[in-house]
Amino acid sequence: MTNPQHSAIAEQVWQNIYSETEQTLAAEPVLAPFLQATILDHSSMGQALSYHLSSKLASSAMPATMLRELMDQAFAEPAIIQAAARDIQATVDRDSACNLFSTPFLYFKGFLALQAYRVAHSLWQGDQRSLALLIQHRISLVFAVDIHPAAIIGAGLMIDHATGLVIGETAVVEDSVSIMQSVTLGGTGKESGDRHPKIRCGVLLGPGAKILGNIEIGEGAMVAASSVVLKPVAAHDIVAGVPASVVGHTKTQEPSKVMDHYFKCS
Ligand SMILES: CC(C)(COP(=O)(O)OP(=O)(O)OC[C@H]1O[C@@H](n2cnc3c(N)ncnc32)[C@H](O)[C@@H]1OP(=O)(O)O)[C@@H](O)C(=O)NCCC(=O)NCCS
Repeated sequence: MTNPQHSAIAEQVWQNIYSETEQTLAAEPVLAPFLQATILDHSSMGQALSYHLSSKLASSAMPATMLRELMDQAFAEPAIIQAAARDIQATVDRDSACNLFSTPFLYFKGFLALQAYRVAHSLWQGDQRSLALLIQHRISLVFAVDIHPAAIIGAGLMIDHATGLVIGETAVVEDSVSIMQSVTLGGTGKESGDRHPKIRCGVLLGPGAKILGNIEIGEGAMVAASSVVLKPVAAHDIVAGVPASVVGHTKTQEPSKVMDHYFKCS
């Protein structure tokens, strides 16, 4: 079902990307071929993403033309493009190093890996599992981000820096979550079946956090850098340490949106 608000965001984000790129082109003519091919030659964000990701992820096993056909099909689905636009909006809102909508689109591998995962997820759901796994493999090699195509991931995510991010097969990440580099949403190695974490809305996961097992990280919670979380975390709790324990409570409903890493031990 199309959400009119999300559809308006998607339209606005694409217009911003396009007009920023025209300005960049005027200021940096040397980038003309790249900016033209990646953004200005396209009439929609779906087409532009399809081109950009296909050229980055192509390999001898799956040449860019073949990949582009798959991506065109996936990005024709409005929900996927709307999720991508909300991811860009989230990045501009939360990443202090990003003040242009075109920056995540062109250069941020966390954003690009997430959109390629969305294509792999749609193939997985359509029972094209080998293709989905091949795309996962390419994402992992090219972006150093390993997301299983069966994982369920919401929209409005910011994945900052992204290197070393691992998200397992039965993990769930709800809307409006922020994830820093080197986070693992993995199994303990002692369970089978549904064995990965469930990350609820508005959670902020600090760099290097390892969350292991089928445990819930409650809405608006925060996990401090390099914590090893082995037990469920209640909504709005802040946990830190190895193994992690509660050290405070978040001051905002959605710490992911304000990127408030501050915590005061209670
Ligand atoms: C999950 C795992 C940490 C085990 O945790 P566990 O269920 O607490 O296991 P144990 O019962 O062996 O833990 C014993 C104690 O060591 C602590 N502990 C566990 N991991 C620890 C760590 N990394 N550092 C310090 N202490 C740790 C536990 O809290 C527990 O302490 P306690 O007895 O005071 O409560 C371990 O099996 C592991 O690291 N598995 C690897 C999983 C992995 O690589 N997943 C990634 C998949 S992508």
